Amino acid sequence: MDVADVVDYQAVLEEVAAAVQPLVGRGQVADYIPALAEVDIARFGMAVADIDGGVYGVGDWQRPFSVQSISKAFGLALVLAEGGDKIWDRVGTEPSGNPFNSLVQLEYENGIPRNPFINAGALVVTDRLQTLTGDASTTMLEFLRAESGNPDVSFDAAVAKSESEHGDRNAALAHFMASYGNLDNPVPTVLEHYFWQCAIEMSCRDLALAAGFLARHGLRADGSRLLPRREAKQINAVMLTCGTYDAAGDFAYRVGLPGKSGVGGGIVAVIPGRCTLCVWSPGLDARGNSVAGVAALDHFTTLTGWSVF
Ligand code: DON
Repeated sequence: MDVADVVDYQAVLEEVAAAVQPLVGRGQVADYIPALAEVDIARFGMAVADIDGGVYGVGDWQRPFSVQSISKAFGLALVLAEGGDKIWDRVGTEPSGNPFNSLVQLEYENGIPRNPFINAGALVVTDRLQTLTGDASTTMLEFLRAESGNPDVSFDAAVAKSESEHGDRNAALAHFMASYGNLDNPVPTVLEHYFWQCAIEMSCRDLALAAGFLARHGLRADGSRLLPRREAKQINAVMLTCGTYDAAGDFAYRVGLPGKSGVGGGIVAVIPGRCTLCVWSPGLDARGNSVAGVAALDHFTTLTGWSVF
């Protein structure tokens, strides 16, 4: 297939939505956070935001859902923006090859998580953002409101509560890292801000717009610079290699883009220099990534020829 310079985004989105419709409803909704299990598995939405702020969508693209681990990409960006690259002394940049909530590597690797997108790494990033700002989750919420242009972006308190009540695995990760001196703030503070950031609700439209700085090489929606170009490149690279956990190889093979998934069923993907994509469908595969969502991104890059490869 030839690579197109210009595409009719709306037509491509409609073609993608039709192609993946048979997969919508496949997989399982996340149920280890009980509030997420209440979501309708038959939802599907997808949005594209171009680097100039134009936004297109299909299906449930304006319906808010729980961003969950997609928040980890924004947390990393805010920490790099506020505190520079010192974070890389405390978290690595290698894929883990293990599930997102795995404990197993942490002891072998002295409490330093493999990357910022597995839960252990995200807890370290949240800890750093808390130190830098004094209120990690509110800092993230305000950033997401500004970048999406939607002042109604908000926390879902029921999801945050549910996650906190069923948060033993994350608490174990946090305490274990604290025992190695890799958290600066008290474990309950870090967990609280991490759970609240995961419980932010946004639509595909909001998320595609909010991630635009990754396609604009670090420039925010208002044209100001959030990150040096080099750091935007680094986030995209870590999203490509680690953003979908132990499925990152398969995601790169099928989609060929930096991507960050969440167990709410959303995935954000970046086409540097062109646009950002967000797809949502709550049915997850065994590794916690949306079944229809990955297929939709695969169709999108196949139709347009716009992968990074
Ligand atoms: O900490 C957790 O387990 C969830 N708040 C987020 C996990 C997640 O979204 C993994 N992504 N696919």
